[in-house]
Amino acid sequence: MSILKIARMGHPVLRAIAQPVADPRAPELRRLVEDMVETLADAGGVGLAAPQVHASLRLVIFFVPAIRGGEEVPLTVLINPVFEPLGEDMEEGSEGCLSLPGLAGLVPRYSAIRYSGYGLDGQPIRRQAQGYHARVVQHECDHLDGILYPARIEDFSHFGYAEELQKEQE
Ligand code: NI
Repeated sequence: MSILKIARMGHPVLRAIAQPVADPRAPELRRLVEDMVETLADAGGVGLAAPQVHASLRLVIFFVPAIRGGEEVPLTVLINPVFEPLGEDMEEGSEGCLSLPGLAGLVPRYSAIRYSGYGLDGQPIRRQAQGYHARVVQHECDHLDGILYPARIEDFSHFGYAEELQKEQE
């Protein structure tokens, strides 16, 4: 396993539409996922999309820690993910991204979604999600369409360095 280099905002791989994965069970995909898991743990985030490590494929990994007061979700590998909103409700919440190190902003997302995709075993995964769980999935899926969270921000008054924003909150 190895820690991969994370592409930062401005790199063209982050703007590209990622390619569907042909075979979720391919051995080279498993290797990529193992490296992504190690890279995510090293960088200290909650989610990582393959394009962020220069692999333009429709593949994301994420987990949802319990600390946000919502549902806890163990590390999930989602291949060729799709989601649909459940209702029109949206809510703003704080987001950061390993491709924009140090920055954070308030991003509107659907409050509840249904999502699906495939695991590394080729088995379908279907879930409903709300709150932070739904936010993480929407953020990661955006990466596969070349969208970074600043493109979703409507109110830029709370976009900045996470350290500074945190000072303001204290
Ligand atoms: Ni991100």
